Amino acid sequence: MQALEIKKDIFWVGCVDYDHRDFHGYSTSPEGTTYNAYLIKDQKNVLVDTVSPGFGKTMLCRLAKTLDPEKIDYIVCNHMEMDHAGSLAEIVERTKPEKIFVSQTGMKSLAGYYPGNSWPLVPVKSGDSISLGKRQIIFQETRMLHWPDSMVSYIPEEKLLISNDIFGQNIASSVRFVDEYGKQDEYLQRIKEYFYNIVLPYSPMVLKALPILEKLDIEMIAPDHGLIHRGYDEVKFIIDMYRTLAEQKPQKRALIFYDTMWHSTEQMAYAVGSGFEDGNVPVRIMSVKSNHHSAIMTELADCGAVVAGSPTHNNTILPLMAAQLTYMKGLRPLNRIGGAFGSYGWSGESAKYLQDALSEMKMEMPCAPVKCAWRPTKDDLKACHELGKNLAQALSAKCGG
Ligand code: FEO
Repeated sequence: MQALEIKKDIFWVGCVDYDHRDFHGYSTSPEGTTYNAYLIKDQKNVLVDTVSPGFGKTMLCRLAKTLDPEKIDYIVCNHMEMDHAGSLAEIVERTKPEKIFVSQTGMKSLAGYYPGNSWPLVPVKSGDSISLGKRQIIFQETRMLHWPDSMVSYIPEEKLLISNDIFGQNIASSVRFVDEYGKQDEYLQRIKEYFYNIVLPYSPMVLKALPILEKLDIEMIAPDHGLIHRGYDEVKFIIDMYRTLAEQKPQKRALIFYDTMWHSTEQMAYAVGSGFEDGNVPVRIMSVKSNHHSAIMTELADCGAVVAGSPTHNNTILPLMAAQLTYMKGLRPLNRIGGAFGSYGWSGESAKYLQDALSEMKMEMPCAPVKCAWRPTKDDLKACHELGKNLAQALSAKCGG
């Protein structure tokens, strides 16, 4: 177990959690994640961020390879969510820092998690800086990225941005840098997955924050999850990728997600899919039984059209579809067109229910929902095919042909 020097006298002292699988509903399978924390050795020694509960001792052992923990002068808490601050009490107890820097909003969440503490807290705001000796840290609040208390720490002398949640990925690996990872497709997928399952609702804030960060001279971005972005080209790449993901420009690709009871709605899903194909729009069909809700959400990153299908069950939709819709609604995707379908035996509410649910997410709904009784007939499947084809046409028009 070693602390890894990422810049002269700046060390990664975080922890790799290969077994992590559930991050407030987002499946981090198959990789797990990392809780990155960074030690800056200077006239004042600073620990930037800590780690998840249960990992404090591992972090302290790693840190102790390069500095006696009692020689930590300052701790910076960029964000108080437990994956970064859950071991704070243990770390404070061991290091006894002279000061702990948090955003002004972070004072609230810190008081909530650690009521009655008598720690030497110092609230900071955007533009505030602290001198470490040879270096300084300049703080920039990044509210809602990922919580109202979030901020980032910039070390201008090193052209280093410690970015906390933003620009992270849930990757558990024995390498620390993007350029060492060697699995480019997987790396891109993890960024997309992380953005679509955590950052997406705050896309407008991302678009406000990026121009502020782009004014800084940044040669390295060290996030609190996953791999470190090293070199100007990689820094530009990840910032540009964030901009693209946050803009959510419509893409000519469709996602159909559905559940089925006796395979009728499933047949409808495939008929809708063939309509998209005939309309020259690539499509991905995902059963909610076979795919985790966060995998379906990630797929949405590449899809401008979203179509939902469920049979009617107890006058409403099947429960896995309800869970998927709740998850999707909370993540607030923008600029999509939607469609709905479903089979029924008796009352037949599901297709309209789905249509209304997607409409509530502010999706454009250019076609009426399609429903069919019992087993789909040839005409029912034709109607589903037409739904797919018409949505393909609407999406193509939205994408500019
Ligand atoms: Fe990685 Fe918002 O915590």
